[in-house]
Amino acid sequence: MNRVLITGGAGFIGSNLADSLKSNGIEVRIFDNFSTGRREFVAESGVEIFEGDLRTDRDLLDRAISGCDTVFHLAANADVRFGWDHPFLDLQQNVMVTLEVADAARNAGVSDFVFSSTGSVYGEATVFPTAEDYGSPVQTSLYGASKISAESFLAAYSTAGYFRSTVFRFVSVLGAHYSHGHVIDFVKQLVADPSKLRILGDGTQTKSYMHVNDCIDAVTAVRSQNDFDVFNLGVPDTCQVMDSAKWIISQMGVDPEFEFTGGSKGWVGDNPFILLDVEKAKQMGWTAKRSIESSVRDTVQWILANPWILEKV
Ligand SMILES: NC(=O)c1ccc[n+]([C@@H]2O[C@H](COP(=O)([O-])OP(=O)(O)OC[C@H]3O[C@@H](n4cnc5c(N)ncnc54)[C@H](O)[C@@H]3O)[C@@H](O)[C@H]2O)c1
Repeated sequence: MNRVLITGGAGFIGSNLADSLKSNGIEVRIFDNFSTGRREFVAESGVEIFEGDLRTDRDLLDRAISGCDTVFHLAANADVRFGWDHPFLDLQQNVMVTLEVADAARNAGVSDFVFSSTGSVYGEATVFPTAEDYGSPVQTSLYGASKISAESFLAAYSTAGYFRSTVFRFVSVLGAHYSHGHVIDFVKQLVADPSKLRILGDGTQTKSYMHVNDCIDAVTAVRSQNDFDVFNLGVPDTCQVMDSAKWIISQMGVDPEFEFTGGSKGWVGDNPFILLDVEKAKQMGWTAKRSIESSVRDTVQWILANPWILEKV
């Protein structure tokens, strides 16, 4: 890698990726519309910023991608929960935009396309840990449906020989620059009122989480051995949402009453059990180094040290 483009480079994962690549001497460009990305995350990064919307600003994208050998396509609607409020958003943001970036990459002669997919593509899997070759999963969210569809478009580009695609299916990611998900929701509630905590569902939803530094270690080093390949990323472990709530309150030094909204799912499309099989990425020499508990605690520390982020969510 010499010069790379990161779409969504001002977002949570993208800005961590930009910092990591830059510190390794790689020339980094980011393309972002700052819809959920934050200027604070990239203000001192020294990367070249192309501010625009991937849905409409194709000329700017063509300029940004020109001369890049690798594209990390992270820009997306990354919030699975609100899909049904805007039923066309995932199609536009996650499918159409991916096709736009793929087409620009093909025209620019990019050799490597790295794509951030998600463990949500497995829907309510019945085999755990769930491996990359798990059947034909029934989609349970518009987000999952859009990501697996975007993967398919990239497979078509790659088997046609335009570029190599490496697809990563992440579990939920935690760490510095975290700006959406249950940890910030809980911290925000507890800062406003430390006496109670409202938890979606019954708290027994069983999830797997990964630290953003572990995620970046894989995304920068693991590559397809073929034209197109998919790698799960996560820790080989789970926790219940209730466990995470206990770590968060312990880290904050508060002792609230828990209130549960009830039911086995937090929202329509919430997958109540997630555990990915990460053997394939491990065989490529990668392994997650941080436990779920330390990732949760680290995220709380980062949020409390950067309270301005609470005003943005
Ligand atoms: N955070 C997680 O737990 C997680 C888990 C699985 C997969 N992912 C995937 O990883 C990627 C990054 O997620 P994140 O958590 O950093 O999300 P994020 O919302 O922080 O980052 C997305 C970035 O894309 C930008 N963006 C969105 N639409 C755009 C558009 N049309 N044009 C230009 N820029 C646009 C946003 O401003 C933001 O900076 C996403 O593709 C997401 O689906 C994230």
